[in-house]
Amino acid sequence: MNSITLMIMKPCSRIMFAAAPFPKSPNFPSNLCVSRLKTYKFYGTCSPRFSGVKAVFNESRKEYSGGKRIAAWGQSRIFSPPTTHRPPYYVVATLASDIRNFSTSIETRVNDKNFERIYVHGGDLNVKPVVVEKIDLDENIVKNEEEGKKGIEFEEIGNCELKNEGLNGEIESVEVIGREESEVEKEAWRLLRNAVVSYCGSPVGTVAANDPNDKMPLNYDQVFIRDFIPSAFAFLLKGEGEIVRNFLLHTLQLQSWEKTVDCYSPGQGLMPASFKVRTVALDDNKFEEVLDPDFGESAIGRVAPVDSGLWWIILLRAYGKLTGDYTLQERVDVQTGIKLILNLCLSDGFDMFPSLLVTDGSCMIDRRMGIHGHPLEIQSLFYSSLRCAREMLTPEEGSKNLVRAVNNRLSALSFHIREYYWVDLKKINEIYRYKTEEYSTEATNKFNIYPEQIPDWLMHWIPEEGGYMIGNLQPAHMDFRFFTLGNLWSIVSSLGTPKQNEAILNMIEAKWDDLIGQMPLKICYPALKKEEWRIITGSDPKNTPWSYHNGGSWPTLLWQFTLACMKMGRQDLAKKAIDLAEKRLSADHWPEYYDTKNGKFIGKQARLYQTWSIAGFLTSKMLLEKPELASVLYWEEDYDLLENCICALSSSTRKKCSRMLAKSQILV
Ligand code: GLC
Repeated sequence: MNSITLMIMKPCSRIMFAAAPFPKSPNFPSNLCVSRLKTYKFYGTCSPRFSGVKAVFNESRKEYSGGKRIAAWGQSRIFSPPTTHRPPYYVVATLASDIRNFSTSIETRVNDKNFERIYVHGGDLNVKPVVVEKIDLDENIVKNEEEGKKGIEFEEIGNCELKNEGLNGEIESVEVIGREESEVEKEAWRLLRNAVVSYCGSPVGTVAANDPNDKMPLNYDQVFIRDFIPSAFAFLLKGEGEIVRNFLLHTLQLQSWEKTVDCYSPGQGLMPASFKVRTVALDDNKFEEVLDPDFGESAIGRVAPVDSGLWWIILLRAYGKLTGDYTLQERVDVQTGIKLILNLCLSDGFDMFPSLLVTDGSCMIDRRMGIHGHPLEIQSLFYSSLRCAREMLTPEEGSKNLVRAVNNRLSALSFHIREYYWVDLKKINEIYRYKTEEYSTEATNKFNIYPEQIPDWLMHWIPEEGGYMIGNLQPAHMDFRFFTLGNLWSIVSSLGTPKQNEAILNMIEAKWDDLIGQMPLKICYPALKKEEWRIITGSDPKNTPWSYHNGGSWPTLLWQFTLACMKMGRQDLAKKAIDLAEKRLSADHWPEYYDTKNGKFIGKQARLYQTWSIAGFLTSKMLLEKPELASVLYWEEDYDLLENCICALSSSTRKKCSRMLAKSQILV
């Protein structure tokens, strides 16, 4: 296969092709920033700057004259609408070659029959199958690819400024915080800004940890997708959109970049776990910068970063909401990025459930912790990202089927999680009395859970008030551990019913000492001990009981807790937790995590100056102070989705579908 290098320069007066993956041509300007485009021996160099949009709150309205749109698919993922203060940069290029290799890779694998399967095979519902049309996404992609074969398109992007037009009319202006920042906040901002990584002179992300005394940073000197999310929110809430825009565009460039793990390439649409800016020597003592992504092929344990793409979609929506710059999500290359992620997530497999099937360690807990299968964290991020994507997909013929698939999956997923993941005192008592070995579609105990599986700790621990979503569900297996991120994000995204969401916070309040203790918040509860620890973690010395992922306390979870509390009108709880964190974080040098049952000690191997601990704290403070901004970051119940669900549920009894019915049956 030929290697082609497309070089895009700034200012974009020339386009060059070379025959090597790295540009070594003497004609190549030494100060040029380079990033690899993607896939199949095709590397691109980049126009280095995305001079994004800075949200200027409280300013008089400015017109956003975003860049002209590029019509064809297959274009490079380089786009840089400049602000008025900078010389214009440029966008290249629609390439005849298969930059994104659409025709073969984005085959329609969207399985919108999962919903049907669940209800038909699920047992207690003798319903007519939901009729769903076959999804044929390829059509559109192939068509667009054809268009893309016209050759290189080259377009200059006009100037842009932010039109603070009120985020869909939701926010007209945003008050800059009136009060003086505390010393801790000032320090946090300084540290956060020090953690910023630049690529070709523009900010593109933040390193995971920035401890000057750390001689062995491993990969903590990289920009992790998931770690950057609280940093992004901190910047967005502060009115600084540029770094977030750059991050979104650069990570998009890295999506599905050719990487292999022992001769096997991960699926198209995968977003990397992290990336690093590397300096590569050119001839004549000159250097250039390249972005080097890690899709898990270097990661400890070779874990798959399933959550990266989900977070990317969530952040993309938030960027639009908080800056008012919706042109980013409307761009063709960005739309393609969303579709690639969706296709990867919605593709058919052997699975029986609407939840996403993943390997162990595919999310924040990125080591073996017995969370393979259908872990809650992935399900709630999946649900959120589907809701975000549905909002952002531009309405066009080609995305109609995808949107339908997304809707079906959302309905099925919320029904599945609400029904089967939820536990409270009453439900545990039901499980305690379950009959087993029920062979029929009518089974009550569908997953054949043996009551003996209910752990002893849970029988004592479950409070009268409240409940939570369990960590995982598989045939004959319920993982009863409480996983904080999944539960918080179920609240934020309305994956849970309003009552369940309220009950989760009630439970956290009732179990404050266990889940918040001296430092918010426990990543999961309780810890795996003894034989369980040996078998499930593989005797992992980093994940000993009440340490790290195995029941450690992670300050970064504070911002998600704050958001969940704000949605449910429980600012009091958030405030209490933030106050606790504020007392210690700075004094302890912003650790990554804390150890022991109540989070008393700085984690055994915790990094210091961990960026998402810093950013999580700042984001929490700002969310509390800007409830009008927080409110665009969470979702209320979607009754249309429920209607879907109820239609399937009620067709056996020929009940009419209605919102009322939806409310009465699902909002238990
Ligand atoms: C640890 C965490 C992971 C995080 C990474 C970088 O591996 O488990 O969630 O992204 O550190 O901070």
